[in-house]
Formats: sequence, C-alpha cells, structure tokens
Amino acid sequence: MNIEDSPMVYEPSDDTFLMLKNIKIRNGENVLDMGTGSGIIGIHCAKNGANVTSADINPYAVELAERNAGLNNVNIKVVESNLFERIKGKFDVVVFNPPYLPASKNERTGGEINSAWDGGKEGSQVILGFLKNFRKYLKKNGRCYILVSSLNKKALKRIEELNGKLIDEKKLFFEKLMVFLL
Ligand SMILES: C[S@@+](CC[C@H](N)C(=O)[O-])C[C@H]1O[C@@H](n2cnc3c(N)ncnc32)[C@H](O)[C@@H]1O
Repeated sequence: MNIEDSPMVYEPSDDTFLMLKNIKIRNGENVLDMGTGSGIIGIHCAKNGANVTSADINPYAVELAERNAGLNNVNIKVVESNLFERIKGKFDVVVFNPPYLPASKNERTGGEINSAWDGGKEGSQVILGFLKNFRKYLKKNGRCYILVSSLNKKALKRIEELNGKLIDEKKLFFEKLMVFLL
C-alpha cells in the first residue's frame, strides 16, 4: 500500500497495524471504516474486494483518505461525519480504531489532529458514543472490529456487556491494545 501522511492527520501506528492484522473481509462485503484517518484500513478492505465507506470528523483526514485511495487505485466513498451523524445505510462490517487516550482539558493539543488521539476523560468517550449506535448500522449477522486500550475501563465494561470477543492484543509500554469482535 502506498500511504501518504499529513501533519494534520493520524499517522498509521501500532494500533492501526494490529487492526489490519485482524480484520477479515470477504469479497463484496460492505464495510464502514469509522475514523479513517489516512484511509489505510478502508483501503486495505477495498483491496480485499469490499465496497467501502470511510468516515472521519477531521476534514483533513477526509481529503487525505480520498487522495490515498486514488494512489492505491481503489474507489472509496469518504464522508466527513461525527461518528454516525452523516452515515446512511447498513453494513456487513464496521471497523473503528478510535481515539482512546485519556486527556484532560489542559492536555488537549487543539486543531484537527487533537481528534486523532483524544478520547476525553479516561479515554472512553468517543468509544462509548460509537457503541451506543453501531448496531443500527450493521446488517443482521454483521460484525464490528474495534480497538480499545487497557486504559479504557468504561469502554471495556460496555464491551463485556455487549459480549465482545477479544481476538488479539499487543502489550505496549504503558498500556495493552486489544481488538474486539462484536
Ligand atoms: C487513532 S486514529 C485512527 C486512524 C486510522 N483509522 C488508523 O487506524 O490509522 C482515530 C481517528 O478517528 C477520528 N475521529 C475522532 N473522533 C471522531 C468522531 N467523533 N467521528 C469520526 N471520526 C472521529 C480521528 O480524526 C482519527 O482520524
């Protein structure tokens, strides 16, 4: 894959690669890549035969994901959206590598790049918003891949209530990254 970066957009990292390793897509499936950033996960799915819609709250990410899709010769619909606000339809697969780092008000960097990592107090805020609504956007028997950090206690509790299945994890210096299937 040929992925360009931008200082205003999340650069693919350990969490991205852990997601890529675990997302299994069948030819022809409809995929929603929430929080697409550079577009890398959606592009990976499109290269595996999926019809992809990618969404991000950051307008710079929308622009970059479109450019990266073009560089990789895949066709992806990219939507600027705060979670599901501007998403229509139902999908076989919804994937989300969310912002998951705990941030207090004075830690915020400001600017669009802040949304790449700022998960609010305790890091669970955006994840909980996503978990409230994702099922409405899944087809019957659809599935969701989501990344969560061991720091996100509230999100982990909610995922347990939803019977999420842990499918992979990676230990980092001060946290553990986990991929769940819901
Ligand atoms: C950790 S980055 C992941 C980027 C990319 N998917 C990857 O794996 O490299 C989180 C992404 O979620 C986006 N994001 C944060 N809050 C969002 C929201 N409320 N709605 C949609 N996207 C959001 C950020 O702008 C950022 O691009």
